Amino acid sequence: MSTPVRAAVGEGTNVTVSELAIRGGRPLRGRVDVKGAKNLATKAMVATLLGETPSTLRDVPDLSDVAVVRSLLEVHGVQVAEGDEPGSLTFDPSGVESAHMEEIDAHAGASRIPILFCGPLLHRLGQAFIPDLGGCRIGDRPIDFHLDALRKFGAVVEKLPSGIRLSAPDGLRGASIHLPYPSVGATEQVLLTAVRAKGTTELRNAAIEPEIMDLIAVLQKMGAIISYEPNRVIFIEGVESLRGYDHRSIFDRNEAASWASAALATDGEIFVGGARQQEMLTFLNVFRKAGGWFDIQEDGILFRRDGELKPVVVETDVHPGFMTDWQQPLVVALTQATGRSIVHETVYENRMGFTDALVKMGADIVVHPHGLQDGPRRVARRELEQAAVITGPTPLHGADIVVPDLRGGYSHVIAALTAQGESRVSGVDILSRGYEKFLDKLTALGADFDVIR
Ligand code: EPZ
Repeated sequence: MSTPVRAAVGEGTNVTVSELAIRGGRPLRGRVDVKGAKNLATKAMVATLLGETPSTLRDVPDLSDVAVVRSLLEVHGVQVAEGDEPGSLTFDPSGVESAHMEEIDAHAGASRIPILFCGPLLHRLGQAFIPDLGGCRIGDRPIDFHLDALRKFGAVVEKLPSGIRLSAPDGLRGASIHLPYPSVGATEQVLLTAVRAKGTTELRNAAIEPEIMDLIAVLQKMGAIISYEPNRVIFIEGVESLRGYDHRSIFDRNEAASWASAALATDGEIFVGGARQQEMLTFLNVFRKAGGWFDIQEDGILFRRDGELKPVVVETDVHPGFMTDWQQPLVVALTQATGRSIVHETVYENRMGFTDALVKMGADIVVHPHGLQDGPRRVARRELEQAAVITGPTPLHGADIVVPDLRGGYSHVIAALTAQGESRVSGVDILSRGYEKFLDKLTALGADFDVIR
């Protein structure tokens, strides 16, 4: 017996449910508002450890990844409380202390953010323990770039069965670091460590995503001296101490792009409040080429389909390229386009698994495990890439599907909303990691679904 979804989502909270019955075939129409970016807010929260005075972060999304970082901060003695406006949090780091390994492990959850605690904890306490990391199964998710950088700063890294223990007996000093790949996480690792290291750090081949630039803005507010040079070079002059910050997080581009693709796939019309054009330029180009149209407004962007869907050839890349997090929902829309599309995933080595469920629903998608042979590339080629060739249009029919990861899971829900008939989608609780009040938003857009459990 399914619970009528209106009762379940009426509380307007992050209802943690695990299975939905979704009836597709109706366009999604209405407004959703995206809050602060999951992939900035969680890092800005870690940065509070570096300040000598309290910080305030605004537009913090109510997500499980945020809850994990909050509890890890509290385990280390940071006082976290609701701020002076809805969605804001205050952080008082004056009582930072070491935590027991078991406590840290118990709170780390399925997140990768704990690895970013290394630098701040080494500065504050001279030691850190980081449990084995979670995160989406979209590749083996190594942390070699992180550990190599920390060693260059002078950290001693010890691998334990349950994680890694770090110490910095002589403190941390500025280093010259050239990343093999513009890794977002490794860039954040260097920024969070270098700002209080003794001396200057030169970071080459840095990630320059908007969330990275927003983290640099947070650190600059704290008193850090960071210069962003051409060609992915960043210089950081270490300072003795930093103060707290008051910052409003950049909006979540990944969530905005997800809802835009949902409008495309279901032939709907969705206004995404909080979305801004500058940070989505590449997405908007692809969106138009695929047959979408958008209206940029003061407080958000209106996304809708503009006639026939068209096939596109897209290669994911680091910023300012087409983000890897944007491809999964777009693929659902491409199954309805007339012709052959290619989506070449070059950032992660295993981020096309979600297409299995789409094929089960009737899509014509072939995944080539070793990507496409093409010429020299701006960013070093990765050994393993995947290319999905999508031939449409293929009507989708309901099916029973299990959500594989965060962005793939979102695409499964959109596919069920695009398909004719009913689908049972299980494992949807993972969506609470990246989509705040997801069920409320689906209801606001007129989606027809029930909560099964
Ligand atoms: C961040 O992951 C985001 N997560 C990801 O979003 C996003 O897809 C990714 O950046 C790329 O933009 C968070 O910010 C929490 P990377 P991150 O380091 O930092 C390899 C979502 O859905 N690599 O840029 O882990 C890595 O395996 C998530 O919100 C190494 O080889 O990404 C990958 O192939 C999914 N060694 C590539 O680099 C390392 O030490 C890019 O990873 C680190 C990374």
